[in-house]
Amino acid sequence: MAAPPSFSTTLIAWQKTAGRHGLPWQNTRDPYRIWLSEIMLQQTQVATVIPYYQRFLGSFPDVAALAAAPIEAVIAHWAGLGYYARARNLHRCAQLVVSDHGGAFPCTAEELEQLPGIGRSTAAAVAAFAFGERAAILDGNVKRVLCRQFGVEGFPGQATIHDQLWRLAESLLPEADIEAYTQGLMDLGATVCTRTRPRCEACPLSSTCIARRDDRQGELPASRPRAAVPERAASFALIVDGRRLLLERRPPSGLWGGLLVPPEGDVKDTAARLGLNLVSERTLPPLKHTFTHFRLTLNPVLCEVTKACQLNEPGLEWVELDLADKVGVPAPIAKLIRQVANARD
Ligand code: ADE
Repeated sequence: MAAPPSFSTTLIAWQKTAGRHGLPWQNTRDPYRIWLSEIMLQQTQVATVIPYYQRFLGSFPDVAALAAAPIEAVIAHWAGLGYYARARNLHRCAQLVVSDHGGAFPCTAEELEQLPGIGRSTAAAVAAFAFGERAAILDGNVKRVLCRQFGVEGFPGQATIHDQLWRLAESLLPEADIEAYTQGLMDLGATVCTRTRPRCEACPLSSTCIARRDDRQGELPASRPRAAVPERAASFALIVDGRRLLLERRPPSGLWGGLLVPPEGDVKDTAARLGLNLVSERTLPPLKHTFTHFRLTLNPVLCEVTKACQLNEPGLEWVELDLADKVGVPAPIAKLIRQVANARD
């Protein structure tokens, strides 16, 4: 049986019949026009870029015109595209092309990458489209296509995965037709292998796609790993006077700001602070609660105090134990209060 067509053969054939062919920066070999489009497309979608691209070329038709323009004029043409460092680098790059390269863009990815604002992938795209160089691109869309097609696990922003993806991208390059191949990768990522709801039924590579085979399009590429949440612990004195529980209003800011909560801190210190006569104390099982930014272990201590203790601080309230979990206390505190009720039954 004949070997199936390679990744690049399939992609090139697809690009020629189903890819994009009429974008304003296509059908030219002018490195200035290609470079400008690639910079604009770095963080901005095609539909947004097109009118900006056309206005920009109207005012700055070539690299010499751009280099000679005041930076304010360049920024004014960029206004609305965002990421203005791109516009400043663009201007500096044009000036360097004029001053150091005689007004002609260097013609290899390696040299292009030395210029401001041109990273490895952009350098490869310009070298491929303008000079036909066999150089690999790896932008966000391409990472997604490769992670899904080849089942690359791990977060692509992590250095080892990123290096692995670059090696994979290099290994897939075709011997010829680098322009259609490069455009095909971009087109597939932008129009078919989209982040959400990919159109696998329209994909020329679906029969070899690992994510499709395993129904894992939503999991690949992997998202940024969540940072480990810090662990905190706090003791709570569940002070009971017969059938009533002591609650204290928290300060307005901070955790549970303004809510009623049992006093936090060491039991003996709390009893001394509040002038209570401690009769007994008993440690209850800890409870874990996860907040957005940390995990808290609540260590409850049940304390019986003599009845009708005088309270000598503001913000303190005795609440019937059977009602105390329903007076607007935070959820983990309501759980603690129910533990107290059970422990005393
Ligand atoms: N995104 C980045 N480069 C592109 C290009 N040349 N065509 C379409 N989308 C792109």
